[in-house]
Amino acid sequence: SFVASVRDSAVPTTTPHRQPRTVGISGAGSAGAALAFANTPDTDAAVAESRRWAAELVTRDVPVPPTAPMSTVEDVDAAIARATAVAPAWAATSPHDRAQVLRLAADKLEQARGDLVATMIAEPGKTVTEADPEVSEAVDFARYYADQAELLADGAIPGAQFRPHGVTVVTPPWNFPVAIPVGSMLSALAAGSPVLVKPAKLTPRCTQVAVAAIHGAMDELGVSRDVLQVVLSPQGEARRRLVTHPDVTRVVLTGSIETAAMFSALRTDLEVFAETSGKNALIVTPSADVDLAVADAVKSAFGHAGQKCSALSLLILVGSAGRSDRLRRQLADAVSSLRVGPATDLATTVGPLTEPATGKLLRALTTLEPGEEWLVEPRRLDDVGLLWTPGIKHGVAPGSFFHTTEVFGPVLGVMRVETLAEAIDLQNAVAFGLTGGIHSLDEDEIATWLDRVEVGNAYVNRHITGAIVRRQPFGGWKASSVGPGAKAGGPNYVAELGRWSDAPEVP
Ligand code: ALA
Repeated sequence: SFVASVRDSAVPTTTPHRQPRTVGISGAGSAGAALAFANTPDTDAAVAESRRWAAELVTRDVPVPPTAPMSTVEDVDAAIARATAVAPAWAATSPHDRAQVLRLAADKLEQARGDLVATMIAEPGKTVTEADPEVSEAVDFARYYADQAELLADGAIPGAQFRPHGVTVVTPPWNFPVAIPVGSMLSALAAGSPVLVKPAKLTPRCTQVAVAAIHGAMDELGVSRDVLQVVLSPQGEARRRLVTHPDVTRVVLTGSIETAAMFSALRTDLEVFAETSGKNALIVTPSADVDLAVADAVKSAFGHAGQKCSALSLLILVGSAGRSDRLRRQLADAVSSLRVGPATDLATTVGPLTEPATGKLLRALTTLEPGEEWLVEPRRLDDVGLLWTPGIKHGVAPGSFFHTTEVFGPVLGVMRVETLAEAIDLQNAVAFGLTGGIHSLDEDEIATWLDRVEVGNAYVNRHITGAIVRRQPFGGWKASSVGPGAKAGGPNYVAELGRWSDAPEVP
């Protein structure tokens, strides 16, 4: 069958299921996505501050970040040499002291909330409602990994070794340009490795503002800034050097599976921790609460204009749910009423794309494949292709382009099947296994789905984006993850970064 053939051929490089799946259930944190695990006692004040900042931006021109200078091969070599020189001292620091650096960094990041939110509006075009919780997530990572370093050092995580090693290179994505680099940098630092971070080309300033906050903490505690350095926009040989230099032992990448494969090909002894792509589906069964399902689908598909690896891309309707005019109408109405506009407008719910739509995304936004029809047709609102009204295509066929390809933008596909078993087959028949969801009020259906679905983060009656640090450790199965597969914001992430099979131990 189609499903069997896709499954057999589409999962080339990764070992699935190395980590237990995260299950998120409605109620356990669904409302908390706005501010992760209650990290800020003065949540309201912090949100108010970001809103004031952003409101100010609306009334004046948003400064365009200066083009980042390019690092040369010499710059990269010098940065690696500085990091290597401080590696032994950093590794010898007590994990409790390293935890203190992370905790102070959390405070500094919180104090920088306004700058971080404003930079995320200005650079990748995030809305305030997306940017503000991202700062909270960064703060949560800092505090959580501080706790993890201490537990590890105290031997409280059974079986975990704690052997810091050489220089770790962090290459974050542009779509979460604060939380993801902060999480990756601080987990490696907690594990005792010095870090070089190469910000994404489109979002250097976001990462620099975050690093400045962490440096603030390091300065106060007398830690050398050589332990955490930024390498801006290296190209060609300078970029390759970041992974081919022998003193770099590990890369923490969030990006495409192709980049992960390229890194591994450049050096076979490099340990690559990569979180890659997703093609994520939500199943709605006839027993579902339709209002809730529609709201969660819209939030998951169109937050940050769909530019999340975790975003919902396929809505799979089972039986009468697929025949329901009410569900279709509600979905179309909800999507048509989303306000599309610039990120500086506080009323915007769907902001601009970070880059003009091209390639697969442009195809998904402008083309119907055989059997498809528009439930809501996307429209381009500007000349360059940054601003699109979100679209929904109906009748996506099994095995088609849209069923199996990640497109990373504001378009949702709807598929219809008769049984839950068929729905799960379609959900699993993609190469990736990052997030997925079910909306059902039937316990047997939920149990069946949890038993069979092949994703790292499985959400029940909840939106499928916005994993919360500690509650919903984030990471994929199948081709969504390369490397040991530890989950960000989960109990063995720092432990995995402190574990190393063949590398020489740092004295
Ligand atoms: N961690 C991000 C989410 O869960 C990608 O949406």
